[in-house]
Amino acid sequence: MSILHIDSSARLTGSNTRIIGQYLVNALNTKVVHRDLAVNPLPAISAQDLMGVHGSSDEKRDSLNTHLAVSEQLIQELRDADTLVIGAPMYNFGIAASLKHWIDAICRAGVSFKYTEQGPVGLLNIKRVFIITGTGGTPVGSNMDFASGYLAHIFGFLGVKDIFHIDASGSKGTPEVIIESGKKQVDSLLSDTQLSEDLVVA
Ligand SMILES: Cc1cc2nc3c(=O)[nH]c(=O)nc-3n(C[C@H](O)[C@H](O)[C@H](O)COP(=O)(O)O)c2cc1C
Repeated sequence: MSILHIDSSARLTGSNTRIIGQYLVNALNTKVVHRDLAVNPLPAISAQDLMGVHGSSDEKRDSLNTHLAVSEQLIQELRDADTLVIGAPMYNFGIAASLKHWIDAICRAGVSFKYTEQGPVGLLNIKRVFIITGTGGTPVGSNMDFASGYLAHIFGFLGVKDIFHIDASGSKGTPEVIIESGKKQVDSLLSDTQLSEDLVVA
């Protein structure tokens, strides 16, 4: 088993998604690669290079080559993992721009997924993703939450079979209450018989 742990909260301390994500990673107790998109944001990309990365263009341009290399590295991190832990703070009802930037770099037809007559099929080896959605007041799963459902859709699109949500809604109360609740959700997920059997097999 091998984890890719992505953090995107702008709060480097006191972040509910970071604290709960670290608790989960510690509990899984296995090899982990940590990518912090707030501390090390991906380089800004021009409109032309964004299209080039999306279409895996073979145009020869230094800036495009740089972004393609970044995309390759990020996709390799995904290829090397079977479990994702995603810390996703809600910003303006959606995900952090840094996390969206990462998604734009990893979703590439023919590289991380392919289109078939039966629909898109993921080309990665990711078995499961844990999505920790942190909000101020917006309840996770409400019709104002454009973060958790979006992330579930993206990972389903990339072929991830098991998608687990950890709800760090601010509407639950103080940070202590939110973190306690997040940890309990982690404990409960990890004690789920089917998931724990899968984790042992992995
Ligand atoms: C730029 C920004 C936008 C935010 N937008 C929302 C929002 O739309 N809805 C909400 O409930 N909370 C919003 N918040 C609050 C965060 O979701 C909240 O602080 C949450 O705990 C962030 O996760 P973290 O604790 O891991 O940093 C926003 C915070 C920031 C900094």
